[in-house]
Amino acid sequence: MECEPEIRRRLQEAGQEQLLRFWDELGPGERGSLLGELKLLDGRELREHCRRAQDAYVRESSSPQRLDDRMRPVPPEFLGSAMKSPPEELTTWEEEGYHQISQNKVAVLLLAGGQGTRLGVTYPKGMYHVGLPSGKTLYQIQAERILRLQQLAGEKYSTRCTVPWYIMTSEFTLNPTQKFFEEHNFFGIGRADVIMFEQRMLPAVGFDGKAILERKGKVAMAPDGNGGLYKALADNHILEDMEARGISYIHVYCVDNILVKMADPVFVGFCVSKGADCGAKVVEKSYPSEPVGVVCQVDGIYQVVEYSEISPDTAERRNDDGSLTYNAGNICNHFFSLDFLKSVAGTLEPGLGYHVAIKKVPHVDEEGNLVKPVRPNGIKMEKFVFDVFQFTKNFVAFEVAREEEFSPLKNADTVDKDTPTTARRSLLWQHYRWALKAGATFTDANGCAIVDVSGFPEVGDPPAVCEISPLISYFGEGLDEHLNKKDISSPFMLEIQRVLEEMKI
Ligand code: UTP
Repeated sequence: MECEPEIRRRLQEAGQEQLLRFWDELGPGERGSLLGELKLLDGRELREHCRRAQDAYVRESSSPQRLDDRMRPVPPEFLGSAMKSPPEELTTWEEEGYHQISQNKVAVLLLAGGQGTRLGVTYPKGMYHVGLPSGKTLYQIQAERILRLQQLAGEKYSTRCTVPWYIMTSEFTLNPTQKFFEEHNFFGIGRADVIMFEQRMLPAVGFDGKAILERKGKVAMAPDGNGGLYKALADNHILEDMEARGISYIHVYCVDNILVKMADPVFVGFCVSKGADCGAKVVEKSYPSEPVGVVCQVDGIYQVVEYSEISPDTAERRNDDGSLTYNAGNICNHFFSLDFLKSVAGTLEPGLGYHVAIKKVPHVDEEGNLVKPVRPNGIKMEKFVFDVFQFTKNFVAFEVAREEEFSPLKNADTVDKDTPTTARRSLLWQHYRWALKAGATFTDANGCAIVDVSGFPEVGDPPAVCEISPLISYFGEGLDEHLNKKDISSPFMLEIQRVLEEMKI
């Protein structure tokens, strides 16, 4: 098979003919698949993409622009708090959220197209289990939370309701995720209510502005960042699907937060009550120099400012009550109205800029040897999901407790932070707290009482292991009937079978 002259011409025009360097050595199958990939690349777009990547890399390498003088925190009237807002208001928001859910107006949207390179597994992160007694994966935990939430909202308002689960995948995650869901019978959720779609891939570019070959017959491609969501929504007609189902509000979240409160009724109700088109859940920064993005205004426009864009003085600035002025740590947990997403996906998306991620990209060298680089060698261009904050007309933020709602799985256990161990501990500590609150006491394998140390800083493993199925409790509710005055031998799992046994079903 000859390389189609049109493709060769396109690559020459884009200055990227190195992608055909090994054409003569490729077998027919490899030629076919490389051609398939190259046909999808428009010459002009490819040239632009590579130029943009190289320019952005040069810009990124120079010192970051400081935004200190242009920043303002989120005004208090647009900020709610699970800890500080009056309890009556929290209850009203929660009721509103449940009401919207019961009316089938709320969907959840999972961002699951990432490659999870830091965790270092070859399958999608959602299929990972962090070593819980139940062995449940992140996908299963999330599925069970949806089922329980539907049940709670349905019971409150005497309806049968559905929270559709939209899952954005990429070339890396779509097939294994689909297969995993099939194998697990969609965890009991109706198949029609799990909607998977794929985001776009872009070529990875070397520091010389040339697209990289991953193998002799394969271009190195990477998903276009979680902000690729907006193009993917349009390309896959997802907003039409939402509209057809009568959805008005969407909760967008990341796959790796084991504590995520999907379609959290309090957050949804807060955003709806405030008439917001766009909202962000935030957590307090742990310390001023913590490298998390901060939700704030820059020149009056909402955005997430990275730690590298602020001077240490600004990061350490405090309010009269001693709290940090720029304290709203972004946890990739967002509320959008359908109308807002329509306006973004319809017209505004092309205006979103790209961010540069400098990564180690496996490739073939000029002699055709496979190289696994030890140092970063490539540029991946990504959009971020929060970049659309700039388009909001009514933005709100909602502060939640980190130990209750945020514990991401980013790294393998070789480091200390955001690992399988920290994620597992966060969940088990939370369930232990819930059990104590419900009135349980614990004994160890020898029948000795385990002392209640909750209230102390939560270091290491909880004193007793207690895992509660999300099918039984979404956020600690309804546990008294199972756990009050129960003396429980650790380790313990409160599963739906046990409930059925107790109910003698
Ligand atoms: P991260 O930025 O943590 O990236 O994604 P990652 O791919 O999971 O991990 P690393 O950086 O390779 O180690 C945050 C969230 O955004 C999603 C991820 O799946 C995760 O839920 N994401 C990221 C996408 O959906 N698409 C992307 O292109 C990138």
